[in-house]
Amino acid sequence: MAGDIAPTGTKFTPTNPDTSGIIVTVTGAVGYLGEHLVKTFLEAGYTVRGTVRDVDDIERLQCLKSLPGATERLSLFAANLLVPGSFDKAIEGATYVLHSASPVALEVVADPEGTLIRPAVEGTKNVLTSVHKSTSVRRVVLTGSFRSIFGLGDEHPKGYVYTEEDWNDKSSLDNNQGYALSKTLAERAAWAFVERVAPTSWDMVVLNPGLIFGPLLSRYHPDAFSVQFFKQLVTGELPPVKLPWAVVDVRDVAIVHVRAFQHAPARGRYLVTSGTYSLREMLDCVRDKIWRPLLRVSVPKPLLWIGFYTGFVGKRLAKEDIKHNVGFRILFDSSKVRKELLPEGFRAPRQTFRDMYESLQEHKIIGHFN
Ligand SMILES: NC(=O)c1ccc[n+]([C@@H]2O[C@H](COP(=O)([O-])OP(=O)(O)OC[C@H]3O[C@@H](n4cnc5c(N)ncnc54)[C@H](OP(=O)(O)O)[C@@H]3O)[C@@H](O)[C@H]2O)c1
Repeated sequence: MAGDIAPTGTKFTPTNPDTSGIIVTVTGAVGYLGEHLVKTFLEAGYTVRGTVRDVDDIERLQCLKSLPGATERLSLFAANLLVPGSFDKAIEGATYVLHSASPVALEVVADPEGTLIRPAVEGTKNVLTSVHKSTSVRRVVLTGSFRSIFGLGDEHPKGYVYTEEDWNDKSSLDNNQGYALSKTLAERAAWAFVERVAPTSWDMVVLNPGLIFGPLLSRYHPDAFSVQFFKQLVTGELPPVKLPWAVVDVRDVAIVHVRAFQHAPARGRYLVTSGTYSLREMLDCVRDKIWRPLLRVSVPKPLLWIGFYTGFVGKRLAKEDIKHNVGFRILFDSSKVRKELLPEGFRAPRQTFRDMYESLQEHKIIGHFN
C-alpha cells in the first residue's frame, strides 16, 4: 500500500492516525456486526458511508442515524450484492472500503447456492470491481470468517493448531456446510481478483473472525446468526454439547477492523479469536443468570445421535457437525492479530457471553425470567 513505513509483523501503531475527512465505505452497515463497525469508525473520527439494501426502512436505520457523530459524518447508500455496479456510488471517493455484507445462516438452508454462495461470491467480486474502478480507494478490508480456515474438527490429528496458512477445503454443499463454503469461496475469489488485477493503488487485508458474540446495538437482529445461536443455547433449544468453536467479541472485531486500515504494514489474513469455547462452556459462563434448569453436563454423542434421528435437535445441528465436530477440541493461533492489531488483547469470552445475555434481555429477545 502507498505510504508503507514499516515491515509487516510490526506491532500496531497507527501509521495514519489523522482520520478527519477520511471516507470509509462499510458494506452491510445495518447487520449485527455492521452497526458496531459503523459506531466504531464514527468514534474513531472517520466519515462513514454505509450500504444497506433498503434505505427506506427508516425504523431499522434509526440506530445508525442516532449514533454519536452520525448526523455530521454518516450517509447511507442502497446497494445489493447481486447487482453489478450497485456499490459504485458508495465507493467512488472513499479512501477505505470495508466489505462486510454477506448472508449468514444458522441452520441448513434449502437453496444454499442461491441464498449463500452467489451473494457471497458474486457480491465480493462486484464490490472489488467497484473498488478497482474507483480512483480513490487505498485499502480494502474484507470480513472473512474462521470457516474459510477451519473445515472439520477431525480433519487433522489431535492438537493441530490452525493458522492463517490453513484453508478450508472440506466444506461442501454435500456435507451441508453451505455457509462455510460461501465464506471460503468468497475469500478465494477476493484473493484471485487481487492477483489478477494486481492493483498498485490499493491493497487488501482479510480478517477471519471466530463466531461473533456480544451486545447488540439495536433490537433488529433477532434472526441474526449470533443472536439465534446464543438465544437457542440459553433457552435450552440447542443442547449444551462438546461442540467447540472459535469465539470473539463483536466490539473487538470492530476495533480490529479499524486497526486494519490504520496499520499500513498489515498484510494478508488475520485469525481473529479470543479462544475456543464449546457450547457447554459458553452456557456455563451465564448459567448463574438463567432461571430455568438447564443441563449441567454435556449431552453425550450417542444421545445426540438419537436426538438427531428423532428430530429433537431439529435442523440446529447438521449431521456433519455431530459426526466431525462434536468432541473434537479445535485450536487456533491468533498471535498475528494480537501482535499486530490488538496488542492490548481481547475481552475475556466470559464477559462477552455475559454482556450478550444482558443485551438479549434488554432488547426483549429473551425474557427477564429466562
Ligand atoms: N456472526 C458471526 O458469528 C460471524 C463470524 C465470522 C464472520 N462473520 C461475518 O460478518 C459479516 C456480518 O455478519 P453478521 O453476523 O453481522 O450477520 P447479519 O446481521 O445477518 O448481517 C449480514 C449483512 O449482510 C447484508 N447482506 C446480506 N445479503 C445481502 C445482499 N444480497 N445485498 C446486500 N447486503 C446483503 C445484510 O444486509 P441487510 O441489512 O440489508 O439485510 C446485513 O447487513 C458477514 O460477512 C459474516 O460472514 C460473522
